[in-house]
Order: sequence, then structure tokens, then C-alpha cells
Amino acid sequence: MNYLNKLTIKDIDVENKRVFLRCDFNVPFDGQGNITDTRRIDESLKSIRYLLERNAKVILCSHLGRPKSGYEDKLSLKPVAKYLSKVLNKDIKLLKDVSSEDTKQAIETLKSGELCMLENIRFEDGERSNEPEFAKKLASLADVCINDAFGACHRAHASTAGMAKYLPSGYGFLIEKEISTMYKILSNPKRPFVSILGGAKISDKIGVISSLLDKVDILIIGGGMSYTFANALGYSVGTSLCESDKLDLAKDIMAKAKEKGVKLFLPLDVKVAREYDPNSEAKVVDFDKIPEGWMGLDIGPKTAKLFSEAISGAGTVVWNGPMGVSEWENFSSGTLSVAKAIAESGSISIIGGGDSAAAVYKLGFADKMTHISTGGGASLRFLEGKPLPALEAIKDKN
Ligand code: 3PG
Repeated sequence: MNYLNKLTIKDIDVENKRVFLRCDFNVPFDGQGNITDTRRIDESLKSIRYLLERNAKVILCSHLGRPKSGYEDKLSLKPVAKYLSKVLNKDIKLLKDVSSEDTKQAIETLKSGELCMLENIRFEDGERSNEPEFAKKLASLADVCINDAFGACHRAHASTAGMAKYLPSGYGFLIEKEISTMYKILSNPKRPFVSILGGAKISDKIGVISSLLDKVDILIIGGGMSYTFANALGYSVGTSLCESDKLDLAKDIMAKAKEKGVKLFLPLDVKVAREYDPNSEAKVVDFDKIPEGWMGLDIGPKTAKLFSEAISGAGTVVWNGPMGVSEWENFSSGTLSVAKAIAESGSISIIGGGDSAAAVYKLGFADKMTHISTGGGASLRFLEGKPLPALEAIKDKN
């Protein structure tokens, strides 16, 4: 799979054309509807500006969250349109749907160098099901389609993959940066190659764990999924998250790591809480002795030291997933210690997933990381070496 040979924004004539630009503006919000991390939008600016400089008529498109069916005010792209309009110092009309006369009219009257934005594309019925008729309808709005939504490349939806069939299509500068950097680092990793995986479930990460076991020297497992490993080892896990149907899988991963000579690190101690609550009573206990009625919500200090030491000697680090409930201050220190260790290691590093990236930004370590991916699921799939449907849909250069 070599997506570097696919058509890009630079290979397609966009001058004065109506360009459909699929972005990933799926950004986090606070309770007041303010965007709390604009990075995904900011990273799309290079493609947007490139198109505007070439007098394209730009139709921006993105999803936001996972709406159930139809319009939901809290998942409207209004705040994104407002933010972008300010950054670009240009009007951006938000078009409320794909099919109405108003939308057609607004796109027809769009002038060269102007932009508009479609409302959250997941409000539309045919998007997630990738209905060919809906994909055709989207394609009929434009002359060219550019995909720059790296975070959504693992989704075979109408706006990410389906419409590429009907228009000259290529990927934008953000996707180019994401995949070229990751290919470069992973094709010849500087050793030792250390991977840290966290997050809730083994089932979400099994593909990437299997694929990394063939590549890494050290695999560190923390966060929610480590309790399934604890249970597989026969330890008590109290009320911690545990996938009891994945115990054999956890045992299999531990056996494979041994067979391949990969050092597998699990926590030594964890911070447990009485309840799943940011202010719950908490204490540190050994990983193999989580008391009944308590749940692990972060790694403990001995673990943070063990993981940090392993990271400090790394040549290459790939990190995806938090070590605990990192959005709660009382249970964030494990995740922050990993971010700090990577920043101080001087290693070549790839950070994926929203929580890991958030920890890096919070500590002001972003400039110490080689690559912070804007993708969560997409970067995992890329690391697994599995096809990304949105990139598969784009034609090769020759
Ligand atoms: C993400 O946040 O990982 C992407 O925007 C994809 O979102 P999704 O998992 O809802 O498809």
C-alpha cells in the first residue's frame, strides 16, 4: 500500500474551479459551545489557502460528532464556520443541507476566491451509508474533490470515499504531511522502537498491537485495557474496566510478545477510585492487588517511573491512548508523565489519538514531538498497515 503515489491537490487543476474540500473539523467543545482545540481546523488552512490563491470556489465539508438522525443544534458547524471566517478574514456562508435550491443557488453564485461550508455532513442520510445516489449528488456540487480529512480516512463514507468516483480527486496537504511523515519514520525506525498503547479497550487496539509486535522492541500497555491483561494474569481487578471475553486475546498477546522477543511492560501500581467520578476518594495500590469495590483510573508512580525509564532510552516512540482518565485532573498524572518522558527522550516520536495529543499540548511539549497526528482511529489503522478507504478511492498518479 503506497498512498504516496496517489493524486494530490498539486496534480489537479483547481484554478477557478468549484472545489469540494473534505476536512475533518471534528473538534472538541466546552459546555458553552466554544471550540477547545482548533488544531484540526488550523491544519486544514494550508489546503484552503492554496485553493483560494488559485481562485477556486471552495465548498468546505466536514462531519462533527455522531448525530443520530438529522439536524442537532449542538453538532452544527456554525462555530467552525465562525472561527474559520475570522482566521481567513472572509465570509463563509453555512449551507444548511446538500439538496435544497438555496444550496445550489449559493454554490452557483459563489465567486472565484470565495468559500462556503456545508452543514455537518452526517446530518444527511446517505453519508455514513455511502449511498451512491447521495455521493453523486455531492459530486454534482463541484468540479473537483480534494480530501484533507486525515482523521476520517478510515471511514468509507460518501464524502470521504464515495464521491471520488465521480470527480477528479486527490488528497490535500494535511494528508500528505501525515502519511509521508509516518511512512518515513516507520519504514526504518531508529531502535529501540518503543510503543505505548493506552485507552479503554483491547478490542479497539488489537489490530495495531498485532502489527506492532512485529516491529517494536518494547511494548508498553497502560490505561483501561491493562486491567484485562491483569485479569488474564489471574489478578483481582475490582470494578475496573475489564473485557472478560478478551482474556484469551490478552494471553495470546503476552505469549506472542515473548515468542518474538518483545519486552512487554504492564503497570506495577495503579491509582484506584471508589467511583467513576473526578472527585472520588482514591489511593495507589499494586497492579496485582486491586481491592474489591475499587477501579483503576490511572497508573501509579512506580509505573510512571518504569514507563518513563523505558521511554528515555528509545530511538523511536509511537504513542496512542491515555494511561487513565486523563481529562480528570486527579487521574491525569500517568498520561502527563508519559508525554513528559517522550518529550525529554529526544526520540523520533509519533503521537496519535485525541487524549495523547491533548496531554502533549497541555504540557507545552508539542514542538518536542516529531509528529502529532490529527487522526485517532485513522492513525491506528495506518499503523496497522490496513487500507484507508478514503485514500484507496483516489487514483494513482500514473
Ligand atoms: C475522529 O475524531 O477520530 C474522526 O473525526 C473520525 O470520527 P468518527 O470516529 O466519528 O468517524
